[in-house]
Amino acid sequence: MRPLHVLLAIGTRPEAVKLAPVVHELRRRPDVTVRVLATAQHRQMLDQILAFFDVVADIDLDLMRRNQGLAELTSRMVAAVDAVLVDEQPDLVLAQGDTTTVMVTALCAFYRQIRFGHVEAGLRTGNKYSPFPEEMNRSLVARLADLHFAPTERSRANLLHEGIAPDRVSVTGNTVIDALQWAVERVDPAEFAPPEGRRLVLVTAHRREHFGTPFEQICDGVRTIADRGDTEVLYPVHPNPSISEVARARLADHPRIRLTEPLDYPRFVAAMRAAHLILTDSGGVQEEAPSLGKPILVLRDDTERPEGVDAGTARLVGPHAERIATQANRLLDDPDAYREMARAQNPYGDGHAARRIVDTCLDTGASP
Ligand code: UD1
Ligand code: UDP
Repeated sequence: MRPLHVLLAIGTRPEAVKLAPVVHELRRRPDVTVRVLATAQHRQMLDQILAFFDVVADIDLDLMRRNQGLAELTSRMVAAVDAVLVDEQPDLVLAQGDTTTVMVTALCAFYRQIRFGHVEAGLRTGNKYSPFPEEMNRSLVARLADLHFAPTERSRANLLHEGIAPDRVSVTGNTVIDALQWAVERVDPAEFAPPEGRRLVLVTAHRREHFGTPFEQICDGVRTIADRGDTEVLYPVHPNPSISEVARARLADHPRIRLTEPLDYPRFVAAMRAAHLILTDSGGVQEEAPSLGKPILVLRDDTERPEGVDAGTARLVGPHAERIATQANRLLDDPDAYREMARAQNPYGDGHAARRIVDTCLDTGASP
């Protein structure tokens, strides 16, 4: 019997973090050939992560352009990914999450009638425009996929509610926890320890639906937190010009706000460990922070990751300056409120998601 030929498509930073454990797990198995396709929807941020996890792309489409638009990125990617599928003839294609890369790869696999497995399936806010365009990407991919790897029971329920056949859905946990458990052993939080008497507040933000006024509000909220005097803000800025130009204009002059380039993954994990509090609109960071016992204020009005909110480790504060500052002040001033949110919980996985995903892929093989 010829080995199962699996192609994994990876486009952006979070996909690299979350698919690296799957690549390693597949490479450990006999009777599988594994090929990694980097669409390189991201460039530097993707390369940083792949290097840390020692994943080398077999094919690299190098698609990123500065300030790329959704339609033009999508159109360039469709033609390029289709050509790879024709060349590679995989039995199974895997992609993760909700980016343009996963949406395009699922569509191209469908056109070529190749089986497609969706890692991190079933996350929903129910709001077509939030997160944008990710909510729609995930919903479209659910229609196209053959195998759905839901991280939690709740994401499984979302898929069943949309009519996906139960035998196509497995609950695996999120591979982000596999990656985090591996990395956390290898990092030293000392680098990010704040000066005596100050607490570290870590910030990330990049969502497209926040471009413009909502992101300015986020910056204003962050500035108010830094104005307290007893905090040190560390903010690795996403390179999207719609974010980075505004962040620098509104925050760079503050003596207690440190803006940096995106941190490579182990240093970002170290920063999360050193942080007292995390403010983020990132999906991955919402999943990582609870395992590290770090309270998160989610800079969004809704989330497709409600498990952290239910567990009490995350709170939605929206992109609203006043609410951001009020909720941060509460956690900085009230030790009981802080302790309540800082209990380490792990609603997103147990570190064995990649093994479950690969087991299912091999059990179902290349059959339709
Ligand atoms: C993308 C995903 C989003 C994901 C995020 C993770 C889509 C539509 N969006 O958003 O779901 O949460 O990645 O970070 O798929 N850039 C660089 N260097 C990099 C990466 C990006 O300079 O390494 C800049 C470029 O100018 C690029 C821009 O950021 O054009 C936007 O990149 P893009 O992948 O289109 O969108 P993100 O906002 O990064
Ligand atoms: N991350 C990183 N360096 C940073 C900020 C984030 O390595 O400076 C990691 C983070 O630990 C998480 C992932 O990037 O694993 C999240 O990516 P991002 O926020 O870009 O995308 P999202 O998860 O929102 O899709």
